[in-house]
Parts: sequence; C-alpha cells; structure tokens
Amino acid sequence: MTENRPHFATRLGVIATTVGSAVGLGNIWRFPYEAGTHGGGAFLMIYILCIAVIGIPVICAEFVMGRASRRNIFGAFRTLAPKGGRYWQLMGVAGIVGSIMILAFYSVVAGWTIEYLMQSLAGTLEEVASTERQAAFDSFTGGWRCVLWTLVILGLNCAIVLGGVRKGIERVSNLLMPLLFVLLITLALNSLLLPGAGEGLKFLFRPDFSTVDSSVVLGALGQAFFSLSLGLGTMMIYASYFSPSTPLLKSAATTAGLDTLVALIAGVIIFPAVFTFGAEPSAGPKLVFEVLPDIFHRMPGGVVWSTVFFLLLLLASLTSTISMSEISVAYFSEQWGISRRKAVAVNTAIALVLGTLCALSFGPLSDFTICGKTVFGLFDYVASNIIMPLGGMLISIFVGWVLRRSVFDMELSPAPRALLCCLAFCLRFIAPGAIAVIFIAYI
Ligand code: TRP
Repeated sequence: MTENRPHFATRLGVIATTVGSAVGLGNIWRFPYEAGTHGGGAFLMIYILCIAVIGIPVICAEFVMGRASRRNIFGAFRTLAPKGGRYWQLMGVAGIVGSIMILAFYSVVAGWTIEYLMQSLAGTLEEVASTERQAAFDSFTGGWRCVLWTLVILGLNCAIVLGGVRKGIERVSNLLMPLLFVLLITLALNSLLLPGAGEGLKFLFRPDFSTVDSSVVLGALGQAFFSLSLGLGTMMIYASYFSPSTPLLKSAATTAGLDTLVALIAGVIIFPAVFTFGAEPSAGPKLVFEVLPDIFHRMPGGVVWSTVFFLLLLLASLTSTISMSEISVAYFSEQWGISRRKAVAVNTAIALVLGTLCALSFGPLSDFTICGKTVFGLFDYVASNIIMPLGGMLISIFVGWVLRRSVFDMELSPAPRALLCCLAFCLRFIAPGAIAVIFIAYI
C-alpha cells in the first residue's frame, strides 16, 4: 500500500490543497464572529500568537507524522508509536469522531452559502431591507430549506471525495484558492471606503487587554486550531500524500501565513461594514450573513459581486469539507480494509444524520439543548475548543517526546538546525504547556 499510495503532483498542488483545507468558513464566517464576541483587537493578538507558537509547530508535527507513516491518524499512531501505540490509537479515534462532528455543523453553514447564492442570483438578496434581514435569516435557518442545503452540501462533498486525491481534491483547489484571494482583496478595498472604516479597523486592530479573560484565550486557541484544520489529523492525512521532496517546514509556514492573511482580510471586509451599518459585533454565528448583504447592496453591480462571492465561499467550504472527510474516509478504508467507495458511503451516512440534527438546531430543535447549547453549538464547542486543542497537545507531545528524533530531523530536512531545535522545543514544552494552562485556567 505504501508504495502505490497516490500523491500530489506538484508543489502548487500541495500548497493549494493544504491552504484549501485551512481556508474556508473558519476564516470568513467564524473568525469575524469570534473576534466580534471576544472584543476584537486583543483577541486578534492572542490568536496570532497562538498561530505562531502553537499552530505552526503542530502543523509541522502533523506533517511529520503523516509523511513518515503514510497512514491516517489512527494508523500513524499505531505505526510510529513503540509497541503498537495501544493508548495513542485512542487519539486517532478522537480525531475521527471530532472530524465527523465538524463536518456535520460545517455543512449547515456551507448550506447557508447556497441559500445566499440562490437569493443573490434571484435578486432577492438585494431586495430585503436591512431591517428585515435578521428576520429573513431566522426564518430561513428555522425552515426546511436549511436542512435541504445541508444535505446538498454533503452530497457534493461525497461526489468530490469519491473522485480521489489527485483528480478530485487537487484540481479543484488549484483554481479556486487564487480566485478567492483576488476577490477578497477587492472587497476589503471596498470596505475601507465605507464611512465606518476607521471605527471598524480600530475595533479589529487596537487591542484592549482589560476585557481579556480565559474564555477569550480559549476562544483564540480554538479558532487557531479550527482555522488551521489542526488536531484531528487533516494535515496528517494530506502529508501522507506529499512526495518525499516536499519541504515540510516551508509548506507549514506558507499554509499558516496565507490562512491568517485571509482571516485578517475577512476582518477588514466585515468590521468596517459592521460599524457602518450599525450591526452588533457580538452577534455570533449570524454576524457575517447579516452584514455581507449590506456591503453588496452599496456596491455598484452588487448582484454580480455577491453572486461571485457566495459561489467562491461555497467552493472554499467544499475544499474544507473534503479535507474533514478525508480523515475518516482514509481511516475506514485503511483500517477496516473496505473500498474507498464504501468508506465514503459510511462517512456520508453518519454526516447526513448528524448534519440534519445540526440544521434543525435553528428551528424545530432550537429548544433541545445540552449544557445550554443546541446540537449545532455543542458540536462546534466540543470539537473546536476541546477535541482539537487536546488533539494538538497529544500530537505535539508525541512528536516532541515519543517519536525518534532521527525521523523528525529527516522529515523536516532541509530546514536549518537552529530552526529544528526551536521547533522541537515548541513541541516539547511550549505547545503542550500553553494548551494545558489555557485549559486549566478555563476550567
Ligand atoms: N480550517 C477550515 C476552515 O477554516 C475548517 C476545517 C477543514 C477543519 N478541515 C478541518 C477544521 C479539519 C477542523 C478539522 O474553514
């Protein structure tokens, strides 16, 4: 299996797929609302710090494990740990459970982009008055179309994942990521011309540390993991498709850099608009979907802009959902020895059930709460703020302390020695220590 495992054809393919996994709703939908609810500037600073000292080392750790083992997360622990890694395998199981939870609620939000795309094409997005937008959003998310779009997303996702690694994943990402980038820059420039631009930028970039508490720090850490697709084995499974000559450290830094840049640009698009149109920065998950139509409404040719935007956002979400699916699809096919088709079917079937529950969380199931959270909220919280950081902690401990140093050095070469030592230090002490402290402080 190891020899004829498929791998990405080009270096652009490597970057486009890892960035394709990282960039998605996490940057454009989740980052602005998390920053908004957690006070803006200070959240951003902590977020960037988390990316630099925890995110990049953990991506490298996942890359090393993936390429050295050429397996899914479960198999990677089993292959690389001494004595078959009986306990480490449990981490693999957590990764698979977490990835399906994320796929379920992520598909709901990706479904919202289909709705906005349709409305944009039909011209109705333009027509809804600002004041009625919130009611329109609530009535849509409470209705059956929201469930339908979730199922459509899972169907599309299933079709692309069936196409396999090279044909399906790489081809879509190569084209899409550059296009999305250009569009976002244009929208950011447009937002900078809005009357509320100054206030918006101040909110996003001027830190006010007096509002920081442990929930802000945990939120920033969770967002860093979510946005970089870390802690569940996504980057690991993608690295298992890298060729031996792909430089891991450079690819990790490029992925993290571009991902953070996209989140920042999304912030620059959203916050000037939030302050211009009088929205509440702390509106939560619906923030972006309420503010964006106002932005497009004011732009000349708004319908065209919004159509292109929601189309690209939809496609960017799909390059992320396929990366979530790949975790469990690779697991089912490699560990259970079933065909890829069957593995995709198992993954899709579970996601359909859980995705429907998440989609209903805004309507019929809105009163069904566990620990004060709807199914949707619970899945997001548990996966992003608990399973992913814990996964990241265990992955860094594993690569820092358990994995043979020669494997680490070999996979990361040609990175300079000093950088390798720095990275190893982060993985041994800083990343696990910081994650543990943040958790304990929060609890
Ligand atoms: N990083 C993606 C985003 O920002 C989401 C994502 C893709 C993800 N794959 C993942 C999150 C795996 C957790 C695990 O939209």
